Amino acid sequence: MEREKLNFMYEALKQMENDYLIWEEYILEGPSETWTTVNGKRVLVLCSNNYLGLANHPRLKKAAIEAIEKYGAGSGSVRPIAGTMKIHLELEAEMAKYKNKEASITFQSGFATNMGSIPQLADQGDLIVSDELNHGSIIDGIRLSKAERRIYGHRDVASLEKILESEAKKYRRVLVITDGVFSMDGDIAPLPEIAKLCDEYGAMLYVDDAHGDGVLGENGRGIANHFHLEDKVDIEMGTFSKAYGCVGGYIVGKKVLCDYLRNKVRPYLLTGSQPPPIAAACLEAIKLVQEDNSLFVRLWDNTRYFKKALRQMGFDIGQSETPITPIIIGENKTTKEFSRLLFKEGIFGVPIYYPMVPRGKARIRTIVTAAHTKEDLDLALNAFERVGKSLKII
Ligand SMILES: Cc1ncc(COP(=O)(O)O)c(C=O)c1O
Repeated sequence: MEREKLNFMYEALKQMENDYLIWEEYILEGPSETWTTVNGKRVLVLCSNNYLGLANHPRLKKAAIEAIEKYGAGSGSVRPIAGTMKIHLELEAEMAKYKNKEASITFQSGFATNMGSIPQLADQGDLIVSDELNHGSIIDGIRLSKAERRIYGHRDVASLEKILESEAKKYRRVLVITDGVFSMDGDIAPLPEIAKLCDEYGAMLYVDDAHGDGVLGENGRGIANHFHLEDKVDIEMGTFSKAYGCVGGYIVGKKVLCDYLRNKVRPYLLTGSQPPPIAAACLEAIKLVQEDNSLFVRLWDNTRYFKKALRQMGFDIGQSETPITPIIIGENKTTKEFSRLLFKEGIFGVPIYYPMVPRGKARIRTIVTAAHTKEDLDLALNAFERVGKSLKII
């Protein structure tokens, strides 16, 4: 009986296997660091989101251990019942200060932040306008909303304007949503033009800065700071799971926004709150980046060096402007083979394919970090060149 009920799963997996769409998880046997052991082999990591090398930083670990001693391993409840600890409030206060905003609210993850907040910002009778390459958590948040939705061409301001011009006046409220840095391509949203249109049409502007946090702006304050548009972004969202080395999501903005979300967002109201050691490590990360900008300098030196060399070798690296550098190959099968050969050379760079990127746009998405040395990057570049030539990609 069971076999029959679950048949669709066998069939789906078989189909995915035929299309080279199965995710083979790699197992890290140590911390997320530049060099670590993956599937039993010591490799150079080029695919983590650990932009500033904070995931295994001694200060973050110490803060987490001290918080365990003081508060325990878990919070014991959801935020509005008995799950708000002093450490959560300290983190929110520090985040608001760091981002030059009135207030901040934290969630269990960036995904939960988008999925939970977007439906509370636009409802029946409202309109959401979203970039076609926005992250899946935004797409799911939009799906959970009863608002009408329109998709504009990727970073296409003219396409956004056309929608706002013809549609905005028909709705009670309009919410425009964009990634700050696009996660699979590393390109940046044209925020000044988008903010100007939002002003013109009275639309709220929501920016997901998961990949701009810790990367763009003064001491990594993100894309709004980078473009001096902090007052124009109504809802600035981000994550602690990338540059800040931990896990969790947040929104910063006006106090009224955070008060509203605190009383409306279902993952805030109905899921256990961030464990205290995690909240403490997030807080330490935010303190650390404000004290010292040497990590950003190294991140950007490494980014420029790596991108230039890949471009010179003849790889298609798209329109990336940030430490995310895709090596666009196209077919899933060749991309998987590229990744396998890289791994044999001691380089960990996973293949990325549908549904993370459109079909036919499979790639190895590399991310350099502040922790890579020039020797690390040269080693990786030599391996990319050898594998690229052996597969006749360059
Ligand atoms: C643009 C973007 N938004 C949101 C998320 C989700 O963040 P988190 O890992 O904190 O759930 C990601 C992570 O992949 C992302 O790239």
